[in-house]
Amino acid sequence: MTWLITGGAGYIGAHVVELAKSSGRNLVVLDDLSSGISSRLRNDIELVETTLLDSASVNRVFDEHKISGVLHLAAKKRVGESVERPDYYWQENVGGIQNLLSAMKTHGVKNFVYSSSAAVYGQPDVLFGALITEETPCAPINPYGATKLEGEVLSRAMAESGGIKVAALRYFNVAGAGRAELGDQYIFNLVPIVFDALERGEQPIVFGNDYSTSDGSCIRDYVHVQDLADAHIAAMEFVEKSDPGFTAINIGTGQGASVFEVLAMIQDVTGISIDPIIGERRKGDPAALVADVRLSKELLGWQSSRDLRAIVTSAWDAWKLGHK
Ligand code: WQD
Repeated sequence: MTWLITGGAGYIGAHVVELAKSSGRNLVVLDDLSSGISSRLRNDIELVETTLLDSASVNRVFDEHKISGVLHLAAKKRVGESVERPDYYWQENVGGIQNLLSAMKTHGVKNFVYSSSAAVYGQPDVLFGALITEETPCAPINPYGATKLEGEVLSRAMAESGGIKVAALRYFNVAGAGRAELGDQYIFNLVPIVFDALERGEQPIVFGNDYSTSDGSCIRDYVHVQDLADAHIAAMEFVEKSDPGFTAINIGTGQGASVFEVLAMIQDVTGISIDPIIGERRKGDPAALVADVRLSKELLGWQSSRDLRAIVTSAWDAWKLGHK
């Protein structure tokens, strides 16, 4: 039996592929290589280079392999770009999952792990300091988050109609690298943005120091990408052995770190002294976004094991190898 991993040449996908392979799974990877990099995949991994929008090619993958489960990570994920090009995000992310789920239905494949995002929560209206549970209302504030939620809505409906079993993993802030060659190649999130500034001899900017948090900067839940990979395997095994219908599960650490705390860790790990510039608040940033992780522990038997130091150290090792 074979797992299909979409987006398997991407930053997160490649970690999932490597872990699944090393635990003895048969795999096929589907990736359009728009942001994925084929050299992330070992030579013995079969890569089908196609877009999910090409439903004939997608169906062919199912025709040609005995697929028993699908881990769906392929997606566009740049929040800013999604604001500029919402139609493109709908086409890629919603059209993509729609074709994939139709192909699964046609071929009687039931096990589905979906890469969702904490972006589905938007700016949650929770009491200060409260953790985000899976019951926190979903109200995305950008097209990226909206398309991730659309994917949940469709997969939930297909689970309710009896077609599939779904674990939707709502990732919080993913960073780090399992090994340096698999690191994030793009400069879109806090850790690589800070590395990039330091490399240019510039100081990073803190987007607001007047939030009602302990040090005034925003708090996020940073989860190590290798822990996230572990969560995917646990999620597929959970879906295979039980009948969850549709279940959304937060994937985080349950511990928040402020922007200043991340900067202090980066200074410590890199040895480069940081004296950040205090900038304006960034539009749409919630003060704090930290996962309640009880459900992942209960259902998947999974919890994160790597801390912020491991995240920053591994991200820095990857950064030093090169980036885009
Ligand atoms: C982290 C914190 C910033 C840059 C985004 C998406 C989310 C998910 C993960 C994909 C925030 C602060 C940042 C800088 C700063 N994406 N910051 N200076 O916005 O929490 O989440 O990535 O799946 O959907 O929205 O992540 O890395 O942009 O920011 O002070 O130069 O760092 O304000 O508090 P974010 P981020």
